[in-house]
Amino acid sequence: MGNKLTKEQQFSDNESKGGSSSDTSRAMTKEILSELRSKTTIIKDTTIESGREFHTEETSTYWLPKDDEEQQRLTGQHFAVKELYGGSNLLPSVEKALDFNSGVSILDIGCGSGIWVMDMITDYPNCKYYGCDMVDTTNKNIRLPQFEFAIGNVLKGLPYEDNTFDLVHMRLFVFALREDQWPIVIKELVRVAKPGCIVQVTEVDLKMPSEDLGAYHKLLVAIHAVCEQRSQNPRIALELEKMMLENTNTKVLQTEYRTCVMNCQSSTAKKFIWDWIELSKGMLSHIGPILGLNTNEEQKEFIHELRRDLSNLECLVHFNAIAAKKL
Ligand SMILES: C[S@@+](CC[C@H](N)C(=O)[O-])C[C@H]1O[C@@H](n2cnc3c(N)ncnc32)[C@H](O)[C@@H]1O
Repeated sequence: MGNKLTKEQQFSDNESKGGSSSDTSRAMTKEILSELRSKTTIIKDTTIESGREFHTEETSTYWLPKDDEEQQRLTGQHFAVKELYGGSNLLPSVEKALDFNSGVSILDIGCGSGIWVMDMITDYPNCKYYGCDMVDTTNKNIRLPQFEFAIGNVLKGLPYEDNTFDLVHMRLFVFALREDQWPIVIKELVRVAKPGCIVQVTEVDLKMPSEDLGAYHKLLVAIHAVCEQRSQNPRIALELEKMMLENTNTKVLQTEYRTCVMNCQSSTAKKFIWDWIELSKGMLSHIGPILGLNTNEEQKEFIHELRRDLSNLECLVHFNAIAAKKL
């Protein structure tokens, strides 16, 4: 960890040096920016590494950024995943189980950019939506009367009563939870669902390709290494059904494993290629050292190779989605 520089310090330094002088403040801004780019800096609840913003929540092993670029990626990724699942945000068994048109209460845990909620509101405007995340990126993006956001860390217990929601949704926590935390988190999801109601969980399965697929192969090796350092399981998607079954008060309704071949030129495939490129950029401060990418040039070259290999080789992306009913 490098220098600690709070926002307040930046501004008061600026003022005390006669902030009205635009030359001085421009020079200071330049200095601060170059410091932000070159070092790890902590500003209040944000750590900046290699120019990207990360959370500072001590209980969490989550290692993706939380800045605007990442929110944009999450929004793009949402549409890729939605297309992979036939254009729906809900598994068919979930659509059948609840009356979404009349209106039910829905909780999205770790709602990120809020895109899943926003898209659901478009499809089902009569439902009441709740979302929580350990950072407040969502709140900045959604201002709709059907939606209530709360800061909430699922590892510390969700800020909701038992038996509250008709649907509890959680997606893409593979880089957020240690393997041993998953069963506890699944229990927490079930706790806040009403009896007779539904929990839907969707995860990427970071399966290693069976053949060498150039930069994509290297990327997955590096991702697995970071996950291992953090006691995370990159293939946790395959354990979801078992974890649900371990809850004596749940019944699994549906498990859907889907795969996209990213060089097939389909609209979904192109979206996933874009997503992998953006994801890799956000991961560079973690995967860079493992891949020996020490300079900006080396990092750019790797991203270039990745784009080429994703477009030309038979690289696969896999997801697993599971719906369970609370008994
Ligand atoms: C990969 S993003 C997925 C966002 C969203 N679910 C989606 O599918 O677009 C993971 C999100 O989970 C949030 N998160 C990570 N750990 C969390 C925790 N312990 N409690 C609540 N939110 C968490 C992150 O801040 C981030 O917004």
